[in-house]
Amino acid sequence: MDKPKIVLGVSGGIAAYKACELLRRLTESGHDVRVVPTASALHFVGEATWSALSGHPAVTQVWESVHEVPHVRIGQQADLVVVAPATADMLAKAAHGLADDLLTNTLLTARCPVVFAPAMHTEMWENAATQENVATLRRRGAIVVEPAVGRLTGVDTGKGRFPEPAELFEVVRRVLARGGDARADLAGRHVVVSAGGTREPLDPVRYLGNRSSGKQGYALARTAVARGARVTLVSANSELPDPAGADVVHVGTAVQLREAVLKAAADADAVVMAAAVADFRPAHYAEGKIKKRDGQEPEPVALVRNPDVLAELSADRARPGQVVVGFAAETDDVLANGRAKLARKGCDLLVVNEVGERRTFGSEENEAVVLAPDGTETPVPHGPKEALADVVWDLVAGRLA
Ligand code: CTP
Repeated sequence: MDKPKIVLGVSGGIAAYKACELLRRLTESGHDVRVVPTASALHFVGEATWSALSGHPAVTQVWESVHEVPHVRIGQQADLVVVAPATADMLAKAAHGLADDLLTNTLLTARCPVVFAPAMHTEMWENAATQENVATLRRRGAIVVEPAVGRLTGVDTGKGRFPEPAELFEVVRRVLARGGDARADLAGRHVVVSAGGTREPLDPVRYLGNRSSGKQGYALARTAVARGARVTLVSANSELPDPAGADVVHVGTAVQLREAVLKAAADADAVVMAAAVADFRPAHYAEGKIKKRDGQEPEPVALVRNPDVLAELSADRARPGQVVVGFAAETDDVLANGRAKLARKGCDLLVVNEVGERRTFGSEENEAVVLAPDGTETPVPHGPKEALADVVWDLVAGRLA
């Protein structure tokens, strides 16, 4: 089988050096990558680096190898084009259909999915011109990955940072996996995903927690980015790296998670509660570390109920038509308990999976049934958590349409 053909377009920003790492991951995972740098990109990383890492000459201008008509061929033959980094100038050119070098010509001839990973200073990203260009590209079906927040060139920090190459690679991989005609079917949508497990503190060093790794929620966030959504990920105590393109809010307790989810849900089209939220928290928080005393039995730990975020979201929709999805981890009577929970929580979909000591928690795979109030059951066979995530988004997209 032919290797999938990827065009890596590189425009002129300092993050070009991080695109080398993306290129390396793409080639090592069996993709045939052609690098098309702009002339400015070559000020940051030279032609020799791109050729050596991709195994192909890196061509910039339409005037090289004219007999091969590269300005048309490269775009036509690609299975995916990823522009990383995409500068404000490149986004403007792409949005307006300008074609004054090989990369911009390639963008006009590509019929495959196109991913842009913008990187620039916060002011340039927030500029109305840039935002309108991004909106135009998204409306036409391109995936524009939101930049990360963090250290920028020089001493500045803010939004505009190039995502971690490993995480950007995951987005590219997801878009490719969805196939050549995969449309950004969540474009223009804002989705909120909660992930991980809350920790309810007893004292400054101890907490009540659970074994959720956050992998299913992170897979949901990543797949939603690859389908074009604006994603807010509310993450409770997960060790996983921030997914590229998602706005990540880190929380600790159920109360903090509730606040962050409700805030983000105000303008969301869908909310997926994949987090394991503690139902109870210690009634009292000891300001100092609880000490053992010789000859004394420990004090019992009194618990109080935490708010049920899923039930609250379902009962009190922030917007008409908002789709609310819950998860249920059950150890026995999985379907019957799932049906009862769906009715009790009042959500639109409930993803039910069986858990146990060695099942689901921390694993890369999952198996589930998605229940809906009309009685339908969508079984999802054992497979990667991303496959389950895509089924959830298929069902959500169907309800939003
Ligand atoms: N959930 C929530 N707030 C809570 C507890 C749970 O929003 N305080 C959400 C979870 O994110 C998940 C769903 O509710 O989407 C199911 O949680 P689960 O703990 O399995 O259900 P419970 O209502 O606690 O039912 P039970 O304890 O009887 O299994």
